[in-house]
Amino acid sequence: MNKTLVAGLLGAGLIASSLSALASDPHTRVLASTCLSCHGPGGKSKSAMPSLAGMDKTYFVTQMKAFKTGQRPASVMHRHTPGYTDQEIEKMGEYFAALK
Ligand code: HEC
Repeated sequence: MNKTLVAGLLGAGLIASSLSALASDPHTRVLASTCLSCHGPGGKSKSAMPSLAGMDKTYFVTQMKAFKTGQRPASVMHRHTPGYTDQEIEKMGEYFAALK
């Protein structure tokens, strides 16, 4: 992905972020920013796509792991999730749960 796009997505995410989400580490923010093209700027979806902002962390982590193992059938998420470690999934869960 080119740097301008990453910076743009990151910027869109940061503007909509709450202070506690801003406190999360840059690595997590960059990972989370890659989700926003589908799940809406700031994690707030305006389409049929589920919003990630404010999602319960336990629910988020459970779904991400279920996509990763193929337990939960998906159109795209099973392609994304194998790229993330369990720790990264936990961190993203905290990040999105803190977004309002
Ligand atoms: C290409 C578009 C796309 C991208 C990028 C994307 N998602 Fe998704 N996401 C979807 C779709 C579509 C679904 C519905 C399940 C499916 O068909 O894959 C979904 C479902 C989910 C769900 C389940 C929501 C619920 O209500 O049960 C979570 C959690 C999720 N995505 C998190 C993420 C995270 C975190 C990222 C970034 C690492 C991400 N998604 C990136 C398209 C995307």
